[in-house]
Amino acid sequence: MRLYLDSADVKALEPLLQTGVFYGITTNPTVLRTARVRPREFVSFADWAFGKGAKELYFQAWGGTPESLYSRGKTLARISTKVVVKLPATQPGLEAASKLSAEGVRTCITAVYAPFQALLAASSGAAYVAPYLGRMNDAGRDGHGSIAQMARALGAVGSATEILAASVRRGEDVAILAENGVCCIPLSPAVAGTLFQEPLTLEATQAFENAAKELEA
Ligand code: E4P
Repeated sequence: MRLYLDSADVKALEPLLQTGVFYGITTNPTVLRTARVRPREFVSFADWAFGKGAKELYFQAWGGTPESLYSRGKTLARISTKVVVKLPATQPGLEAASKLSAEGVRTCITAVYAPFQALLAASSGAAYVAPYLGRMNDAGRDGHGSIAQMARALGAVGSATEILAASVRRGEDVAILAENGVCCIPLSPAVAGTLFQEPLTLEATQAFENAAKELEA
């Protein structure tokens, strides 16, 4: 199981990375814009992330053509071997991903909504495919059902491409995804924070603290 933090906000990321339960950090241009991390700051952000223990960091390539996606993907991959390059599940994105994968760059096909796109990702040699659970549900599709089908299809053909389920908005979705064969889940800091707030755990912990204090008195 690998949980990731989907953010570039260092203040929000730092305490969560310190827990040691998050494997890495995922970003995309929207996430980077929210945190105001510009392309010229990607290297320093990556240094910070790896210094805080992130084992993988995702940056997304941009540009409307296979050439521009490929060239930006190459630049992003040069930052570190721990960088995974995200590319959209479009024809230009898949063309760029195929070339990058053939050159040994680890890629993630993102903005995935349909099960067949997971097979396109696998065919491109991508290390990961990122379906958007919450956004599938927003569009009236069966998010969990589609992602479970992706997992079954990739498993049936013996693909090494792993599912990184994004747009996860509720802590309880983590266990459902894992049950359905998803090993990698990025969470916003807000959703990640809820995983540490199970009310009965907090109540039990408070009771232990009270008992320990009485024993010490
Ligand atoms: C993924 O790349 C996105 O950052 C994220 O998962 C989208 O989440 P949302 O649909 O809740 O905005």
